[in-house]
Amino acid sequence: MNIRTVATTPFNDQKPGTSGLRKRVPAFQQPHYLENFVQSIFDTITVPPNATLVLGGDGRYYNREATQVILKMAAANGFRRVLVGAGGILSTPAASCIIRKYKTHGGIILSASHNPGGPDGDFGIKYNGTNGGPATETVTEAIYTASKKITQYRIADAADVALDRTGDHKMGDMTVSVIDPVEAYAELMESLFDFDAIRALLKGGFRIKFDAMHAVTGPYAREILVNRLGAPADSVMNAVPLPDFGGGHPDPNLTYAHELVEIVYGKHAPDFGAASDGDGDRNMILGKGFFVTPSDSLAIIAANAQCAPGYKQGLAGIARSMPTSEAADRVAKALGIPCYETPTGWKFFGNLMDAGKVTLCGEESFGTGSDHVREKDGLWAVLFWLNILAARKQSVETIVREHWTKYGRNVYSRHDYEGIPVDAANGVMKLLKDSFASLKGAQFGHLQVKLCDDFSYTDPVDGSVSTGQGVRILFVDGSRIVFRLSGTGTEGATLRIYLESFEPDVSRHHLDAQEALATLIGITLQISELRKRTGRDKPTVIT
Ligand code: G1P
Ligand code: ZN
Repeated sequence: MNIRTVATTPFNDQKPGTSGLRKRVPAFQQPHYLENFVQSIFDTITVPPNATLVLGGDGRYYNREATQVILKMAAANGFRRVLVGAGGILSTPAASCIIRKYKTHGGIILSASHNPGGPDGDFGIKYNGTNGGPATETVTEAIYTASKKITQYRIADAADVALDRTGDHKMGDMTVSVIDPVEAYAELMESLFDFDAIRALLKGGFRIKFDAMHAVTGPYAREILVNRLGAPADSVMNAVPLPDFGGGHPDPNLTYAHELVEIVYGKHAPDFGAASDGDGDRNMILGKGFFVTPSDSLAIIAANAQCAPGYKQGLAGIARSMPTSEAADRVAKALGIPCYETPTGWKFFGNLMDAGKVTLCGEESFGTGSDHVREKDGLWAVLFWLNILAARKQSVETIVREHWTKYGRNVYSRHDYEGIPVDAANGVMKLLKDSFASLKGAQFGHLQVKLCDDFSYTDPVDGSVSTGQGVRILFVDGSRIVFRLSGTGTEGATLRIYLESFEPDVSRHHLDAQEALATLIGITLQISELRKRTGRDKPTVIT
């Protein structure tokens, strides 16, 4: 097999964001663009002899083409084997599971998560390390540095591999093993949860609806929920992964998963609704006419973890990203276990899980997971909820309300202003940082500012420091406003505003979050000059 060395020049925009390199498809279709980044990964991770790589993606447009290129580059860069999901498909948590199960030298995941797909949509690529988790900040930086110096890449002259059937193919000295994308993951789920109890729940007439949003979780949900747990086939909707996600925005929230939302808020609503995103790592949990915020979901899973066989032995600790509500902290306190506050992005949880410091992790952005893999995991969260529902035999809403009664309610909402001009977004952030001194101690109605800062984090395992992780305005009564700019968008800037207040009074738990947070929302608009600077009078998405 001939291996070609191709001369190239750097693109200077290959800096990975919160989760890998994401660009519009046409950017990735430029000659050498994908190859440069893949070679930068291989140059950074130094491939040991006999190494295996995992490869797969969320099935979005360009997934197949990129898979073939990466296989040929893996062969040219000394890999002995690549485990690739049939059809080029692997959900992000399944990729993490397979890396761990087969102890591979990491894996490459092709995904832009919840961003729209199609010829004009987004594409993305990221490297996950040997622990199955997203590359650390240090490795990510090194890949970026390599991409700015690259002069050549290596690629094998080989025929495309038939990706649709499982089996082994030779590519020079390398073996391409096309594997079932679902099997290992489904087995792992079966080892963690009480499938008998869930099966009995479903048999007893408990109705569920899972929306795969035309994205990667369709085959996973069918195998697990329908084939293994016995749910009726129509319990899974939009179950065929499409390259453009059916023209939708595969982000499981109240705005983008409206088809499911209409069903669970409509007549004859099922008892439980859930959705997952493009690559299967996010989840949204709904009851009959009831929405569970992701922050509450993390706290409730933690408080009820002993219902699931895989977590019977207790939790080592919990970690949540800084903007995620403090509901989980209350549960951790009651359990007498630590709760860590990390910057946004799953990569910060890896060290804590590897060191055995935490079992559960979560983010407000519809991400929940545990140390069973090193990614957040959408279907895992769905199964955890089903396991809790099977054990407690109560409705979703009752479980949440009882939780609030016991721990108090952390009222929470996130307001996103998407696609605003970068200068305006930076201007808002600068204004806020410049106002720290005058904001400290300031009184807004009954709320007084206790502290403002730009969040920074020192990793307790490796001591690395991450600065500039979001502006926090903390109030004396525990309320919080957090401002940060998204690191996953590909167009303009997205400003995220996270709002939280604590409500111990049960008689006020019925309030709508926007209503309960109205004072904080007012303060946000005032101190950020948002409307004036961005010309927007309302958020694009409220979650
Ligand atoms: C967003 C979420 C963040 C999540 C990331 C990847 O990043 O806010 O919690 O880890 O997507 O799914 P952001 O766009 O805010 O940088
Ligand atoms: Zn995702």
